[in-house]
Amino acid sequence: MKKCPVSEYCGGCQYQGIEYDKQLFTKQEKINSLLSSFHAIEKIIPCKDPYNYRNKVQISFSYDEHHNVICGYYIQNSHAIVPIERCDIASKQINELISSLKKIILRQKISIYDERSRRGCLRHILLRSTNTGESMVVFVTGSKVLNKAELLIRDVLKFNPYVKTIIHNINDMPTSKVLGKRNFVLYGKGYITDRLCGLSFRISAASFYQVNAMQTEVLYEKAIALAGLNKEDVLIDAYCGTGTIGLAASSKVRKVYGVEINASAIKDAKINQKINHIGNIEFILDDAGKYMESLSRKKEHIDAVIMDPPRAGSDIRFMSSMVKLSPDKIVYISCNPDTLKRDLNYLKKYYSIQKIQPVDMFPFTSHCEVVTLITRAGVETTELM
Ligand SMILES: C[S@@+](CC[C@H](N)C(=O)[O-])C[C@H]1O[C@@H](n2cnc3c(N)ncnc32)[C@H](O)[C@@H]1O
Repeated sequence: MKKCPVSEYCGGCQYQGIEYDKQLFTKQEKINSLLSSFHAIEKIIPCKDPYNYRNKVQISFSYDEHHNVICGYYIQNSHAIVPIERCDIASKQINELISSLKKIILRQKISIYDERSRRGCLRHILLRSTNTGESMVVFVTGSKVLNKAELLIRDVLKFNPYVKTIIHNINDMPTSKVLGKRNFVLYGKGYITDRLCGLSFRISAASFYQVNAMQTEVLYEKAIALAGLNKEDVLIDAYCGTGTIGLAASSKVRKVYGVEINASAIKDAKINQKINHIGNIEFILDDAGKYMESLSRKKEHIDAVIMDPPRAGSDIRFMSSMVKLSPDKIVYISCNPDTLKRDLNYLKKYYSIQKIQPVDMFPFTSHCEVVTLITRAGVETTELM
């Protein structure tokens, strides 16, 4: 199998050069050894296509020792750049854009930002693409002005007609974050739109959106089916991000509450609700633990929780309040099997673990997503596809 020539320096793909079947085997073994004491582990769901799945990348710019422009990914935990010609896990449109933009930047002689002297212009380019065939280009500059903006827009559109929006973002701070706070729309509407689970999702430069949208559909469908939802259910979508899971599940239940701590994600969630004309969902900006605690104090009735916490997992405030609320069904989506193990150890004192399903969301990396169905003792569920 052909190995990415820069994988050793880039650090993004830990499983480069390993056959996909072997990658899946390794992930399965890891999940088995961590979690099989709770329940037998289902066979990992693979990606249909392990290549070209990433819909977002950030490329950075610098000069080499001969003052030639170099462009590529940051080497992990450093500000040194590994030049790239292609990225096998990035979408095809993103790969086309990387090679086209490199030529455009050189041809237009755009100056490159120098982090030490804090002079120059172009710092990074953020690229996003969708399954619907739309792309976004975000020029991130260290200065307030994007030199030759009109020529850049002309060339980007001429060679990449699927680009639907171009944004100028200013990041003049000494930070490892790619995006600054100020955005100016140079072309298009400032967002692109993807389709997921039959719904539309608006993605702007700073929005959180799952990077493997194709497999996200598989993940969400599995999670929603495992929850065995019915039309009378009240569902909580905890750690809801831009509301994708709750919106996808909304037609199956009476009411959904989505809770999320990030204000801009909640703003996007409300826009997503509006453009999909969904009435039975409410988004709450709050810490998920605090919110669950307030519901349990009010003795609210909740039938099901789908929770998708960050890598750190859930805190005790969330877990103990959820146990007090006592929903019949909990579906725990985890991107970190170590914290999932910790949280299942807590939940198993009150609940029964019914199914553990690994899903491969990120081929060529060591990460693995796991969906777990947890039910209250005596509750029977049917997986509804
Ligand atoms: C793994 S992401 C899941 C997002 C969403 N469910 C999705 O599939 O796109 C975890 C989310 O939890 C949010 N988050 C982190 N800590 C939180 C907390 N204490 N309370 C509520 N949300 C939190 C993050 O902002 C992030 O959007």
